[in-house]
Amino acid sequence: TTPLRLGLAGLGTVGAGVVKIVAARANLLARRTGRPVVITAVSARTRDKDRGVDLAPYAWEDDPVALARREDVDVFVELMGGSDGPAKAASEAAIAAGKDVVTANKAMLAIHGQALAEAAEEAGRVIRFEAAVAGGIPVVKALTEGLAGNEITRVMGVMNGTCNYILTRMENAGLPYEEVFDEANKLGYLEADPTLDVGGIDAGHKLALLAAIAFGTKVDFPAMELEGIERISIDDIRHAADMGFRIKLLGVAQMTGRGLEQRMSPCLVPADSALGQLQNATNMVVLEGDAVGQIVLRGAGAGEGPTASAVMSDVLDIARGIRVSTFGAPAAGLETARPARVAAA
Ligand code: HSE
Repeated sequence: TTPLRLGLAGLGTVGAGVVKIVAARANLLARRTGRPVVITAVSARTRDKDRGVDLAPYAWEDDPVALARREDVDVFVELMGGSDGPAKAASEAAIAAGKDVVTANKAMLAIHGQALAEAAEEAGRVIRFEAAVAGGIPVVKALTEGLAGNEITRVMGVMNGTCNYILTRMENAGLPYEEVFDEANKLGYLEADPTLDVGGIDAGHKLALLAAIAFGTKVDFPAMELEGIERISIDDIRHAADMGFRIKLLGVAQMTGRGLEQRMSPCLVPADSALGQLQNATNMVVLEGDAVGQIVLRGAGAGEGPTASAVMSDVLDIARGIRVSTFGAPAAGLETARPARVAAA
């Protein structure tokens, strides 16, 4: 059987996690997919750095675009991050060279995902991104496969662990926003640009992707109503608690008579509800379908293991020949919901 050959660009926390799983579970992965899954080449900004993984078995490329085009790469795994620059250039190069793409890059997808997905569709390739939304929670798969028989009526959730950490810590310890923000920073929770987290942008990117999948619309992040948690005071949290509520940075996407409505903003939720009970840096996604009713998914939205787990889900689907696309060209305009399709292999 022919192995599935991965080219891995980006060897940060998530990249190292993927290397660990592929290296340590060769037999298991081959048994589950019916073929070996191997890494042939890797790329990162710096070569000599201790990442806790042995990179000696893999070819090295300084340039991720060159990696994406390699003959011995079937799937380009993009774990560099950044909405533009090398991540986008290399993903485009991979599709143009006839490779499938697996990425965890919500910022890139929220802005360029529509174009990338349409390019992939035209080339008969897939671009998959389970890891881009809510880390380890298999929410993309839930929408495209598990709930494929439903008309999705609503998608909601807490999709930024850092904001949830800050809000729960403020409430539990009675600390002001600024103090907890500094604490989150020391814990390494915040993105390099913290506005992505506390401005609701990172969570908004994720919701925009889920909405496009759920409702068959174009990815339309600019159309989202967006508000972060920067202005939430300890008094707001106390007043909410007095009334039996908690404040969560909640995303809601639903189809209305006026088209797709997408909102990411601080919301009051009942303290005893599933969303209200969500503590610390955890994510929760609530999906509603006309047949299934409501389902709740909860888990780690970031970190090495959870995010690598999601990357592997996409890689293994491709190894098995499962080529469900997530979004591509909508059938007709924003309002027309379109179910996920199976792309040509
Ligand atoms: N900063 C993000 C979070 C990590 O806190 O959820 C994954 O996007």
